[in-house]
Amino acid sequence: MKYIIVGGTSGIGLATAKMAVEAGHSVLVAGRDPSKFSAAQSIGATTAQLDASNIAATQHFFSAEGDFDHLVLCASGSAGAGHFRELALEDLRKGFEVKLWPQVTCAKAALPTLKVEGSITFISAISSRAMKPGTAGLAAINAALEALVPILASELRPTRVNAVAPGVVDTPWWSRVPEAARKELFEQLASGVAVGRVGKPEDLASAIISLTTNTFITGTILDCDGGWKLKNS
Ligand SMILES: NC(=O)c1ccc[n+]([C@@H]2O[C@H](COP(=O)([O-])OP(=O)(O)OC[C@H]3O[C@@H](n4cnc5c(N)ncnc54)[C@H](OP(=O)(O)O)[C@@H]3O)[C@@H](O)[C@H]2O)c1
Repeated sequence: MKYIIVGGTSGIGLATAKMAVEAGHSVLVAGRDPSKFSAAQSIGATTAQLDASNIAATQHFFSAEGDFDHLVLCASGSAGAGHFRELALEDLRKGFEVKLWPQVTCAKAALPTLKVEGSITFISAISSRAMKPGTAGLAAINAALEALVPILASELRPTRVNAVAPGVVDTPWWSRVPEAARKELFEQLASGVAVGRVGKPEDLASAIISLTTNTFITGTILDCDGGWKLKNS
């Protein structure tokens, strides 16, 4: 099988690429910054430069790649977080631009070359439904993505369409938080997670690979959050 993982040069996408390569699949990862390609190349994936916020470039990328089986959409930036009173509208708008639109653009541009028996897996976030203060913007962005899933699964049948909704995962997504503060934040967040820890990229990779390989799952949002959304009592 051939996988294309957009946003596969770090974090969850890179762990998914590794798992897919180890399972014997051919994997192409795409991202904007070529200086990040070596990690994917070292695990046996091929790499391509793509800014999925550019519609024409994304259409060209998929038509040049030819037929493939599984599309995994990990691209995002980290704009749009914060309490609503302080959240700048420009930052919230940017959050949509750097996550919703690149994933939607790829899903649409891939359709002519994605095999009909293949799959699309979006990566949303549990913030869509966790109802945590400070995440209204992230909730709106990720809920928009999740709203697409069952309808696309119905429209595009038999192609399967799913999403994985991660909780807090230790990846470069958090790199804007300085290292010492991030460690402290993760410890604090882990205390609110039912399994008592934040996620590792590999936790998410196995959920993503399951959705791509289980041919009886479609129209599903798979929460992979260690129980972060659960109430404490
Ligand atoms: N980490 C968490 O706690 C967490 C929680 C909930 C949801 N998520 C979601 O999980 C997904 C993966 O994130 P991650 O945590 O693995 O973060 P990450 O390590 O920062 O990965 C993001 C990937 O997307 C690529 N990318 C970003 N914008 C792109 C664009 N316009 N075109 C092509 N590639 C692009 C990045 O490479 P370049 O910058 O080089 O393009 C990178 O490969 C994201 O959708 C994120 O919102 C993460």
